[in-house]
Amino acid sequence: MPRMPARPLVFAAALAAGLAACSGGDATETAATKPAGEVPPVIAERQENFKAIGAAFKAVRGELDRDAPDFATIAAKASLINARAGQIANHFPAGTSTEDGFKTEALPAIWKTPAEFKAAAQMLVDESAKLASLAPGGDKAAIGAQAMAMGGACKGCHDKFRLDDEK
Ligand code: HEC
Repeated sequence: MPRMPARPLVFAAALAAGLAACSGGDATETAATKPAGEVPPVIAERQENFKAIGAAFKAVRGELDRDAPDFATIAAKASLINARAGQIANHFPAGTSTEDGFKTEALPAIWKTPAEFKAAAQMLVDESAKLASLAPGGDKAAIGAQAMAMGGACKGCHDKFRLDDEK
């Protein structure tokens, strides 16, 4: 393969900015073609998705801590998690891992074992669906156990695929 002549980064950045100004940005552009430091929108998107999932899970646990939980709230939050869990698999295009120079906790293992990652996301889809269907019944012990099982789906994925920066 012929080597591309090295271009100063500032030129590439100016070109990208100019193109974005003309076209309003190109959503199909891949992360790999972007100058380092420019964060692909999909990274912010998936982090927002996880933040919303985290807030919903917190709300579920908050209800379960009460003597008389609001089971309708638990059902609604579980449904929200279910919908958002379904988006996870679409939020990880190649070139957006911790090794690509972006501020992300997405480990390269996501792309090395994609079937496993997909299964981990599907597990959250399944466990949140179970919680959503169980919640309206009002059996606090069973709902609590299912919330724990759903939490296991979070942990199972984080342990393998998310950078642990809390050490
Ligand atoms: C299939 C894998 C997977 C599952 C399932 C999963 N997560 Fe995550 N989570 C990740 C990855 C990967 C990141 C890092 C994303 C990034 O930084 O780009 C993350 C990040 C997060 C963040 C930080 C978001 C931010 O940037 O502020 C929170 C909060 C979170 N997850 C909560 C949860 C909760 C709660 C659950 C379960 C209800 C869950 N996650 C299930 C993979 C998963």
